[in-house]
Amino acid sequence: MKTMIEIFDDHSGKTTLKWSSYIKLYEKLFSPLKDKNVNVLEIGVQNGGSIEIWSKYFKNFANIVGCDSDPKCVELEFANQNIHIINGDACSESVQEKIIRLCERYDIIIDDGSHISHQIIDSFIRYFDALDNGGIYIVEDIHCSYWKEYNGGLYYPKSAMSFFKRLADVINFEHIGTGKTRQDLLLGFNTHSGEHIKEETLSMISSVSFHNSVCVITKGEPKLNTLGELMICGTTSSICNKHTNFDSKNLPPSQESNFWSTLKTSPDEEWETLKEQNLLNEKKISELTNFIDEQNNKIQSLEYSLDAVFDSISWKITKPIREILYLYRRKNLK
Ligand SMILES: C[S@@+](CC[C@H](N)C(=O)[O-])C[C@H]1O[C@@H](n2cnc3c(N)ncnc32)[C@H](O)[C@@H]1O
Repeated sequence: MKTMIEIFDDHSGKTTLKWSSYIKLYEKLFSPLKDKNVNVLEIGVQNGGSIEIWSKYFKNFANIVGCDSDPKCVELEFANQNIHIINGDACSESVQEKIIRLCERYDIIIDDGSHISHQIIDSFIRYFDALDNGGIYIVEDIHCSYWKEYNGGLYYPKSAMSFFKRLADVINFEHIGTGKTRQDLLLGFNTHSGEHIKEETLSMISSVSFHNSVCVITKGEPKLNTLGELMICGTTSSICNKHTNFDSKNLPPSQESNFWSTLKTSPDEEWETLKEQNLLNEKKISELTNFIDEQNNKIQSLEYSLDAVFDSISWKITKPIREILYLYRRKNLK
């Protein structure tokens, strides 16, 4: 049986490009599934080389589904009829339906599509539910999450890396101590239809691991994703015996008075909201400043007009009449 590296080195069919570290990582991740009837989904087919590599590695695969928005990909021909190519945007309802219709549960899902942060997140939210228990979800080339060309940036709160880093908190949500739900931790990341990601979906995330340019998320039964019971063994505690009457029911300690735990959103998201508000305020200030300038100009031009009236001959000639009228009014008022 050839290893992934050997298959890659010997491959002479359709082309594919993969960084060497990915191949080593995939060997580790995929070897337990090597002989199984796996269902594999890959978003991003291009020349079809990776699809051929998966089909050579998983000799007994059930289905390999590739999805690509490039219509030319459907012209690719493969030796095995259980390789299916779907054309279209993986982040669309119609394509999602086709992918699920072909196979309801996948063992492996690889996102090697657009690498654009919001599409990576959208795809994860769409397809993680279709991953089987014990399945592996892989996001390739997540280094793009650091680049604005791919809707990313190191501290951008909506980047794909920010999203997957937050999943680490989702896994540990039972220790947060504020009553926040898993959904609360992802309030800034909604589904394509604007709803919050389902609590049930989030409860099935077993692990998130980061490798150079690859993020791996595994799925498992919610009860297997909890901390479980505290197990103590051994009979001698000569250094510390606190654990002998340790009550795990008092965990986590309440964090309701912890400023950093009770923020509604993460500081980076809050900063983003405040920045947007600030921009709106600056726009309003500039509009009001322009309005004041316009009014000042109007006042100045009225003052010029008034000066011109006072300087006019007619104003000077009619001065005695105004004085008589003034005296007359004062007399009548008394
Ligand atoms: C990096 S290539 C895939 C390479 C292939 N996985 C391999 O290893 O040989 C990315 C592919 O994703 C496709 N793509 C980009 N955005 C997509 C989307 N929203 N849905 C489906 N495919 C997409 C592109 O057309 C392109 O062919």
